[in-house]
Formats: sequence, C-alpha cells, structure tokens
Amino acid sequence: MELFIIFLAFLLPLLQQAVLCSPLYTPVQPPSYPLAVKNPYLSDPTAWVPGNWVKTLPSASAQFWNGLNLTWSVIARVDDQAYSLFGVPAPGSGVEAAVVDKAEYTATHSTFTLTAGQATIVLDFFSQISPANLTRQIAPYSYLTVSATPIATATPNISVYTDIDNSWIGQINEGTLQLSWRWSLIDGSTAAFSVRPGGVDQYTEVQDTAQWGTAVYCGRNAANMPLSRAVGAVEDVRANYVANGTLAGSISKWVAHGVVAYSQDLGKVTGPTNVTFAVGYLRSPAIYYDGKAQATYFEATCSTPECGCVAALDDFAAADAESRQLDTQISSKAEDAGGANYSDIVTLSARQAFGTMDITIDNSTLDTNDVLVFVKEISSDGNVNTIDVMYPLSPILYVMAPEYIRMMLEPNLRYLAKNIWRYPFVMHDLGSAYPNATGHEDGHAEYMPIESNSDLLTLAYMYSTATGDKQWPAQYASLFRTYADDLVNHGLYTESQLSSDDFLGVTANQTGLAVKSAVALNAYGLMSGQSNYSDLGRQRAKTLYEDKLGTDSVQTHFTCVFGEEDSWGLQYNLFQDVLLNLQTFPKEAYEMQTNYYHSVHMEAGVPLTKSTQWSKTDWMLFSAATAMAPGVDNKTVRDMFIDDVHTFMSNGLNPVPFSDKFLVQGNSTSPAGTWVDFRNRPVVGGHFAVLALDGANQIKLDGN
Ligand SMILES: *[C@@H]1O[C@H](CO)[C@@H](O)[C@H](O)[C@H]1NC(C)=O
Ligand SMILES: *[C@@H]1O[C@H](CO)[C@@H](O)[C@H](O)[C@H]1NC(C)=O
Ligand SMILES: *[C@@H]1O[C@H](CO)[C@@H](O)[C@H](O)[C@H]1NC(C)=O
Ligand SMILES: *[C@@H]1O[C@H](CO)[C@@H](O)[C@H](O)[C@H]1NC(C)=O
Ligand SMILES: *[C@@H]1O[C@H](CO)[C@@H](O)[C@H](O)[C@H]1NC(C)=O
Ligand SMILES: *[C@@H]1O[C@H](CO)[C@@H](O)[C@H](O)[C@H]1NC(C)=O
Ligand SMILES: *[C@@H]1O[C@H](CO)[C@@H](O)[C@H](O)[C@H]1NC(C)=O
Ligand SMILES: *[C@@H]1O[C@H](CO)[C@@H](O)[C@H](O)[C@H]1NC(C)=O
Ligand SMILES: *[C@@H]1O[C@H](CO)[C@@H](O)[C@H](O)[C@H]1NC(C)=O
Ligand SMILES: *[C@@H]1O[C@H](CO)[C@@H](O)[C@H](O)[C@H]1NC(C)=O
Ligand SMILES: *[C@@H]1O[C@H](CO)[C@@H](O)[C@H](O)[C@H]1NC(C)=O
Ligand SMILES: *[C@@H]1O[C@H](CO)[C@@H](O)[C@H](O)[C@H]1NC(C)=O
Repeated sequence: MELFIIFLAFLLPLLQQAVLCSPLYTPVQPPSYPLAVKNPYLSDPTAWVPGNWVKTLPSASAQFWNGLNLTWSVIARVDDQAYSLFGVPAPGSGVEAAVVDKAEYTATHSTFTLTAGQATIVLDFFSQISPANLTRQIAPYSYLTVSATPIATATPNISVYTDIDNSWIGQINEGTLQLSWRWSLIDGSTAAFSVRPGGVDQYTEVQDTAQWGTAVYCGRNAANMPLSRAVGAVEDVRANYVANGTLAGSISKWVAHGVVAYSQDLGKVTGPTNVTFAVGYLRSPAIYYDGKAQATYFEATCSTPECGCVAALDDFAAADAESRQLDTQISSKAEDAGGANYSDIVTLSARQAFGTMDITIDNSTLDTNDVLVFVKEISSDGNVNTIDVMYPLSPILYVMAPEYIRMMLEPNLRYLAKNIWRYPFVMHDLGSAYPNATGHEDGHAEYMPIESNSDLLTLAYMYSTATGDKQWPAQYASLFRTYADDLVNHGLYTESQLSSDDFLGVTANQTGLAVKSAVALNAYGLMSGQSNYSDLGRQRAKTLYEDKLGTDSVQTHFTCVFGEEDSWGLQYNLFQDVLLNLQTFPKEAYEMQTNYYHSVHMEAGVPLTKSTQWSKTDWMLFSAATAMAPGVDNKTVRDMFIDDVHTFMSNGLNPVPFSDKFLVQGNSTSPAGTWVDFRNRPVVGGHFAVLALDGANQIKLDGN
C-alpha cells in the first residue's frame, strides 16, 4: 500500500507533464489519421492528417492521400476569443491556437480533444463503414462533429466556424481556376454548399484527383443554433468570423483563394453541445464500364447535393450509433484474435480498405439488383479491379462482407466471358486507369498468368464457402474450368513471369506461384465438385514439400525459386490453404516455414525475400495467420509479425496513409521502419487475415 502511494506521488507530476507536453494518443499515434475516407475519390480528395502533425493540429493541414494539402478548417469563438482548432496555418491576429490534449482513432472515428479557453472541444471525424447497408456504405459523405463542453462551472458563449475550398475538387491551380458554386437552404433547416469545376472532364484525373466531381459541405440551421454562411477570400471570411462571431451578411462572390464557410452559434453552453457537418464528394457517373456509365449506388437514393445533404444529416444519428457497435466489435474481436497490438492495426486499416471501393449500379436503369464493386489500386498504379490486389484485400471482406468478393469479381468475369481478352488465363486488371474499366482489348496487361488464375479461383471459392452460394460459381463454370486447366498445364514449373510482387521482376519456376496454384486447384476442385482437381493440387503439394521441389534439401524452408537452396521469402500463399481449411499442404509444411522466420528476421521485421531490405505488411500478416494453422499454433511467430507491423505503424517516421511496404533494414539514408513507395492501398484489408481465421461474416449490427 505504502509503496503504491509513493509510486503515485512520484508518477503523477510526470503524467501531468506528459499530458501538458504532448497529446495523449489512443491507442497509438498512427502514420496518418483518416478524416474523410469513403470512396476512391473521397479518398481523393480523401482527407487525412499526418500523425506527427497532430500536436499542432490547429495549424495542420488536411491532406489528400498523395500529400496535396486540402483546405478544411475549424475555428471556435469562446467568449469572444477565437481559437484555431484545425487547419488554420495562417491564423491572423486575434486568433489563439487551442491546446491539443488527446487524439484517438477507432475503426470509423478519428477524434481530437482540445482546450479552448473555458471549453473542451472535441472534433470527431467519422466515416461510416456499413457493409450490409449498401446505401449507407457508399453514401459519399463523412461527418465532422464539433462537440463543446464547458470547463467546470463556466457557461461560455460558443460559436463554431468551418470552411472548405476548391482543393476538394482537384482544382489546384489558382491561376486557371474555374468553378461554380451554389448554396441552398432546404425547408429552413438543411444547408448545402456545393462547389464544382467550371468545365466537366468526365473520368479524368489530375494528380490522382477526379476532375468531374462536386464537393459538398452540409450543415443544419436550428432556432437555438443559427447557422450563418459566407463565400469569399479565405482571409476575409475568417477575419470576418473572428471579429463578429457570425458570417451573416458577408461576402458572397468567388474570388481568388476562395472558401465556402459556415458558422454556427451554440449560445451559452451549460453542458455538452454538438453540431454536425457532413462533407461529401459526388461523382456522376462513377465508373466507365462495358461501354456504359455506372452510377454510384447512392444515386438510387439521391443525385443532387441538396438531397444528399438531407439524407446524410438525417442518417447521422443512426449511422453514428451503428458505427459505435461496429468499432466495439472490430476491436474486441481483433483483440481476442491477436491481442491489443493487432486490434490497433486492423482498426486503422478498416476505413482505408473500404475507402478504395466504389459500389455501383447501371447509370441508365439504376437497378439496385445488379450491384458491381470497383476497387482502385491507389498509389501503386491506379489500375481498376486488379486481381492480385483484390486477393490481399479480401480478408476484411471475408470477415465483414463476403458478398463484396462476388460483387468485385463480377465485372472482371463478365468481361472475360466476352472473349475480348484473347488468352486462356485471367487478365491482370480491368483497366489501367481508374475509373475507366475498359479492359485490355489489345491484350496488353501485366503478365501474371499463374498468379491471376490462382487468385480468381481462390477468391471465388472463398466467397462461395463464406456465403454458401453454389449457384454463382456454376454460372461461370466454364471460365473457371479454363483457368483451372491453365493451372493444370502451367502451374507447377512456371514459365518466366511476374508474381504479385511484380517489383521483383520476372522469374521462372517460382515456388510461391507453384504453392499458390496447388492451393487454387484444390479450391477449384471443391467448388466445382471435381475431386480430381483437388487430388492434383494435393499431389503437387507433395511434390513441392515432401519431394522437396520447393524446399531446401534439408527442409528448413520453402525456397523462392526451385533449386536455389538458400533463397527464401514470406510464403504468404499458404494462408488461404489454412483459412479455407483446404489441407492441400500438410501441417508439417506450415510448421517448417513458420519456424524458419525467426532466423531471417532483420532489424525491423522479416523481409519479403532474401534479396530485399523491405517487406510487405499484408504478406507479414498472412504469414502470421499461417503460423496459427491447426496443430502449428505458434503464437510467438504470430506475435512477432504483429509486433513488427505495429512498431512500423507507430514509430512516427511515416506521415502518410498506412503504407504496406517498409524497410526492415536501415540503409545510409533511411532508418529501418521507413515506408517505401506505397500508401493508402487497398491491400491493408489483408491485415484482417488473423481475425479471418475466426470465420466469415463476424460483424453483426442492429438493423441489418
Ligand atoms: C501543407 O501544409 C503544411 C501544414 O500546414 C505546411 O507545412 C506545408 O507547407 C503545406 N504545403 C504546401 C505545398 O502548401
Ligand atoms: C440503411 O441506410 C439508410 C441511410 O443511408 C437508412 O435510411 C436505412 O434505414 C438503413 N437501413 C437499415 C436496414 O438500417
Ligand atoms: C478515361 O477515359 C477518358 C476517355 O477516353 C479519358 O478522357 C480519361 O483521361 C481517362 N481517365 C484516366 C484516368 O486515364
Ligand atoms: C462584421 O459584420 C458587419 C455586418 O454584419 C460587417 O459590416 C463587418 O465588415 C464585419 N466585420 C468584419 C471585420 O468583417
Ligand atoms: C454569443 O456570441 C454571439 C457572437 O458574438 C452573439 O451574437 C450572441 O448574442 C452571444 N450570445 C449570448 C447568449 O451572449
Ligand atoms: C457529441 O459528440 C461527441 C463526440 O463525437 C460524442 O462523444 C457524444 O456522444 C455526442 N453527444 C451527443 C448527445 O450526441
Ligand atoms: C446518367 O444518367 C443520367 C440520368 O438518367 C443522365 O442524365 C446522364 O446523362 C447519364 N450519364 C451518362 C454518362 O450516361
Ligand atoms: C524449372 O525447373 C525444372 C526442374 O528443376 C528445370 O528442368 C527447368 O529447366 C526450370 N526452368 C527454367 C526456365 O529454369
Ligand atoms: C477431371 O475429371 C474430368 C471428368 O470428370 C475431366 O474432364 C478433367 O479433364 C479432369 N481434370 C483433371 C485435371 O484431371
Ligand atoms: C514457434 O517458433 C519458434 C521460432 O522458430 C520456436 O522457437 C518455437 O518453439 C515455436 N513454438 C511452438 C509452440 O511451436
Ligand atoms: C506491441 O507493439 C509494441 C511496438 O509497437 C511493442 O513494444 C509491444 O511489446 C507490443 N505489445 C505486446 C503486448 O506485444
Ligand atoms: C534506402 O531505402 C530507401 C527506400 O527503399 C531508398 O529510397 C533509398 O534509395 C535507399 N538508400 C540507399 C543509399 O540505398
């Protein structure tokens, strides 16, 4: 007891000091906080804020995933003193920066707590994940709730200001800027500001930003919380608010450095008081596919900014309540599956993974019975529905929404069924530049035949076994057979070609591809009821493992290339064999490989292969899950991978949306734990691999 008191007396000042010096990060400080991350173009513009900017949040800029700054600010007046809270790099006179106390993220919320005079103000950035409710899932809106609470017995008079500008529509060059804007007030209550480019360049991008969308900022007027608005130069509009505490009657013309702005008067605040804004980005149409336009699924509900604002703000309370259930379920299930560090990883990955997808319907019919999902290979090359990206993305879908696996394979299969693609193997992607899902009539696509066939067949089986749907695979039986037979003919001694790790270049006889195709043949055999394919898959596994074609001669590990004794790498292709309980390989094979990883661990993790100084977080967690195969159950190895990814994620070196590629060995210019090349990619869905072992469809929410 005494010891305890002494401890407390000793620790308390230190703790207080820590709180005063820097914000408290819960659960950790991530590389970047998702702020508004809902679809590939509310993923550009997605708003993120780098983790190491948060201690100076009042002056920190929101960013697009690629690092372009976005204007999105929040200021509050507390008893006539203005405080910058977020996104105000040049506050001007009379504005004080609020003090950042806490920063927190969950699967769907990023929350920052600040002190501004006699008030505690929480900024809650919320992007819903609602896989079972397609309307809510794809609603192209995220929410910002500003929540003010008086300190102690104070009753401060509080108002809140916020603005956005043309950076949200990818119109970056002020010199040539052309845009139009509109403001509406619906039924005296819902306010909608919309900003769109002057000319509409359908389906085009500039610096990865879409050029044909409309940014929307929504607020709600109420008798006890009047909303005012302005349009004008950022300095003028903010100065007007700072001086007057309201925007009523101010500037109304778009000028250079223009913003659209709201202020909302909370009045004398005696208890917690919230105001919620919704920020959106609408693209109509969303995708070009099969010679036609695909609209976002949300257009079945709404196609104007005004309707969208009403829908988004009407749905806020229900969406928020649902998100709290979802957050709790994901974090507690992930913690059960792989510990607190694992939970920190998957909760940060969730919005990013779902934010790379568009959920669409035919623009001309708006038929909601025919839903297609498109995934953007963000950051690495912008391809559409890349098969070897959908493969590592899939664990999050298996856990939360297996139906999406079918909806994203469907566009590719429909295209392949037309025989425009001239090869007997699966096409690598459905178009080289999102949102043009135009295929490859010329036959030019990345040459990755065995990878692509195996990914497709394994994903199809994954969907079918997770949902019990036998009818869908039957519909594409002949295509699946073609690709399975290609694996029969070419899947063991593979010709010179790429694997998913295309940055490694082309090689023949890759062990990983042979492993992968053995697993896929087995999966195909089970899916199609032809046991001879499963038998062949197992026979190949025997050749690779027992007969040592794919291992070193004393069987300590799988090789990268047949016969190259001391080559090695992450054998992540075993994961689906474990997940789907296919038993293509014997337990001893998983065990051998699992036990090997410790011996090749570098400074910050196990590299992808012997010849790389970096690794991939998705494949690390596939390997972690493989270590939990029945009978292997090696928690030490699982946790080694989890902790390595966790250290990378929280080391403060990487101010970008979650990168899946990082240095595991430092070099003369970059320390170990530095991100490499990729950011904000869909493949972080693969971080759910360990949780996926606990089964498909794990998240159950009220109402759907
Ligand atoms: C982006 O914002 C950050 C933080 O406010 C600032 O330091 C940086 O100079 C800005 N970059 C550009 C290109 O404006
Ligand atoms: C689905 O979301 C929409 C709003 O986006 C909401 O109106 C509807 O009630 C939700 N459906 C269910 C079953 O929760
Ligand atoms: C998509 O195709 C259209 C029409 O060919 C073209 O104008 C546009 O630039 C393409 N988009 C991208 C991102 O390449
Ligand atoms: C304050 O508001 C009044 C009108 O309501 C306006 O004339 C004045 O310019 C505003 N002050 C500033 C500093 O913008
Ligand atoms: C709070 O401040 C605003 C802006 O300065 C002012 O218009 C309003 O009258 C004040 N309300 C109260 C209750 O003092
Ligand atoms: C107000 O917002 C905060 C932050 O999102 C939230 O914790 C709180 O529950 C909200 N209060 C109400 C009454 O909605
Ligand atoms: C999409 O549908 C809307 C409504 O029918 C129509 O106005 C628009 O022209 C269509 N867009 C395209 C690109 O087909
Ligand atoms: C692949 O491996 C087999 C068996 O080891 C060998 O005969 C063949 O030459 C290899 N192929 C290539 C292209 O290296
Ligand atoms: C599997 O059996 C079917 C007939 O039942 C046959 O058509 C097919 O060629 C066989 N495939 C393999 C790989 O043995
Ligand atoms: C897990 O693997 C490690 C490292 O190879 C090994 O030392 C340990 O014995 C294994 N644990 C179990 C439970 O097999
Ligand atoms: C969690 O990861 C951190 C590194 O980020 C590590 O220091 C810590 O030991 C891990 N915690 C557990 C319980 O494994
Ligand atoms: C260190 O690694 C980084 C990331 O891969 C790379 O960009 C840089 O060129 C490397 N530096 C040296 C000296 O190899």
